[in-house]
Order: sequence, then C-alpha cells, then structure tokens
Amino acid sequence: MIARSFGRELLERYGSPLYVYDLDEAERQAKALFDLLPKSAQVLYSVKANPIPEVCAALKAAGCRVEIASPLELKVVFEAGFTPDQILCSGPGKTAGLVREMLLAGVTHFSCDSWYDLERLAGVASATKKSADALLRLQVSGAPTGSVGVGAMQSHFGADPAELLNGGAARVGALRGAELAGIHIYSGGQIQSADKLASTFEHAIRLAEEIAGAGVPLRLLDLGGGFPWPFGTSDNPVDISGLREKLQRLNAQRRLTAGAKLWFESGRYLVASSGTLLSTVLDVKVWHEKTHIILDTGMIHLGGMAGLGRIYRAVASIAPLVERDGAAIQSVDVVGPTDYALDYVTRDASVSPLKPGDAVAIPNVGAYGLTASLVAFTGSQPPAEVCCRGNSVVAVYRLRTGHERIRT
Ligand SMILES: Cc1ncc(COP(=O)(O)O)c(C=O)c1O
Repeated sequence: MIARSFGRELLERYGSPLYVYDLDEAERQAKALFDLLPKSAQVLYSVKANPIPEVCAALKAAGCRVEIASPLELKVVFEAGFTPDQILCSGPGKTAGLVREMLLAGVTHFSCDSWYDLERLAGVASATKKSADALLRLQVSGAPTGSVGVGAMQSHFGADPAELLNGGAARVGALRGAELAGIHIYSGGQIQSADKLASTFEHAIRLAEEIAGAGVPLRLLDLGGGFPWPFGTSDNPVDISGLREKLQRLNAQRRLTAGAKLWFESGRYLVASSGTLLSTVLDVKVWHEKTHIILDTGMIHLGGMAGLGRIYRAVASIAPLVERDGAAIQSVDVVGPTDYALDYVTRDASVSPLKPGDAVAIPNVGAYGLTASLVAFTGSQPPAEVCCRGNSVVAVYRLRTGHERIRT
C-alpha cells in the first residue's frame, strides 16, 4: 500500500482522484507467479487487466508474454517492447480485418474461439502469406470454475472438445494456411484455492491427453489461470503457495503431451496489488442515523461493470491518508459522485473518522480498474494514472473520453 505522505504529494501534483501503479510490485507478483509454476512454463499477461504501457513493460522485464484482443492493445504492447512472437491474439471478437492487422504486424499465435474462427484465421493467413499457429479454445465442463468472468456464468466461450476428440485429427490435418498448435482453456477468474486451481489444470491436462490420444498432436497447452487476488479491498490474498507442488505432480503425469509447452494467463494476480485509487472526500452527510461519505470517485472509475449488476460486486476498503483521532464511524455508506443510486463504493462499512477534503486510498485496484469502468458516464474527466518506482514517478497518463465528430 502506498505511503500516506507520498499519496498526498501525488494528489497535490496530479489532482484527485488518481490511480497510482507501483511497477516494482507488478514485477514482484510476476516473480511470485513464475515461482508457483513448472520451470519452463510461460506466463501471459492479459493486457485487458491494465493496458498502461509501463505496466506491460514491467511484466515484460519480469519475463511475461502478453495476451491481447485489439489493435489498441497491440499498439500498447509494441510500445512496451514486446516482440510479435511474444503475443497471443485471443478473444471471440475477431474479424478478418483484425486477424489481418495482427498477421501483418508479425503476430503468429492466435487463440481461436471456434472452428469458424480457426478457418477464418487460416483463410486470412493464406491470403496474406503469413504463418499462423492456432490454439483452439475449448469449452470447459466439469472443472471447478471461478467466481468472476467465464466461470461465474454459463460460458459461451470456446469450441466443444468433442470436435477434436471425434474426427478432429482428419479435420486438423486438412487445415491449410494455419496450423493447430494446441488448445486453450480458461475456467474463470478468482479461483479461490490452490486445490481448485490445481483441479482446473488437472482437468485441462486430462482433456489434452485425451485429444492427443485421439491423434491430434499438441505442442502447446494454454491452461488459462484464474489466479486470485482481492479486488478493491485490503483482505488478505488467498494463499495459493500449495499450487507449486500440485502442479509439479500434474506436470510429471503428462504422457502424450509431455513435450508440449505450458502457458498460463493472468491479469489480476500480476497487477491488482500494484494499483491504488486515491480519492478525496467531497461531503459527509448524516441522515436517518446513517453516515454517507461522498467521494470524488465511484463506479465511473472503479468496478463500473459491476455497477450494472452483471458480475460479483466487490466492496472496497477505504484507508484515510490522514491520521485523525477518534473511533471509527459505524454504518457508513461510501458513495461516488454521480447522480445514480448504484454508484457506491461500500455499504454499511465501519470507517475511520473522515471530513470533507480528506484523502483516502482504495487498495488492490491495479487490475480491471479504470478501463473496466464507466468512464464516459456523466462526462467527468478520468483520473490521471501515475506509474511509480519507489517514490519516483516514471510516467503519467490520462485516458481520453468524449465524443469525436465523424464525417456523415
Ligand atoms: C481468456 C482469459 N484469459 C485470462 C484472463 C485474465 O483473468 P484474470 O485477470 O482473472 O487472471 C481472462 C479474464 O477474463 C480471460 O477471459
């Protein structure tokens, strides 16, 4: 968590609210994740978690590759210094134009969400005379799933594994333009224990062995991730240190896929702890024995997707950047600055005494923070985003919003 005096200094320099990312922390988390995985495994950073170039560059320095889904993310990862062979283009939203742009930029690895997506890749790769290695994303059934993202709802991602198990070898052999290099499985985010994580990987490895047994050669297994980290709260992270041993055991059990490379993906585990959202109290109101603290931040900068009630709504922790004597205020609703009832940061919380003008910090928001929020709602300027190493600022950004008139 950011030092209070440094937080206050940054607020003075860049205004409130303010996102602060600690790049050293992102590198530490990457190291911690690599330490849990088999030696030769690769970690792909999911850029959608936080597309700030310096954050991506810190993860590159720590040895990660990247997983991206759009031309803008491609631009960001090139700016961060990644080479095309370190990039996986993923997601169900591909168009022939996007695939073409990726191939022409030198990207060779694609996760395909269906046979149609795979055949589209093969067609565009043939037309552009580029080589393409495809991973077929497979639907997960029977594995423990996560509490957000894919696992939280009925998943529509990926192809039916039966498409590879029954007659897949002939279909794969007949592919021209792209080669099926392997499979991709992602069971969901925030998988809350080492045991559950290990079960999802075991499930994926078993399926890979079956597919290889059906005559489909696999040289790459992207086993996804789901590595958990608190979102917006100061809760202790789940201890997943037990995963190391479990994964070693699973890795040793591979037979037909023993030579296949292992890839894992992560967004939140790598960058959540690097981010803090600093905010200022705008007003404190007491009404019907309840205290309402109004901040200059809320769903427009944090947890915007959750504001729609679509996904698990985290309740944030608020730590003051000032020291003030007195007992904590009980039963506080901390709310955002918009005229919208869903715009709350936490409800019925107990927080330290706060006054208008006080600065507060919300921890663990380095992943799915600003760019996963409703930044264009109400037209307020998005907060600046500051990247730091220790107490040195290395880069500052501001996300652009607002309508740009286009030609009729
Ligand atoms: C396919 C895929 N990989 C990786 C991730 C990153 O997940 P997390 O940030 O929970 O690690 C996601 C998140 O939705 C995803 O859909």
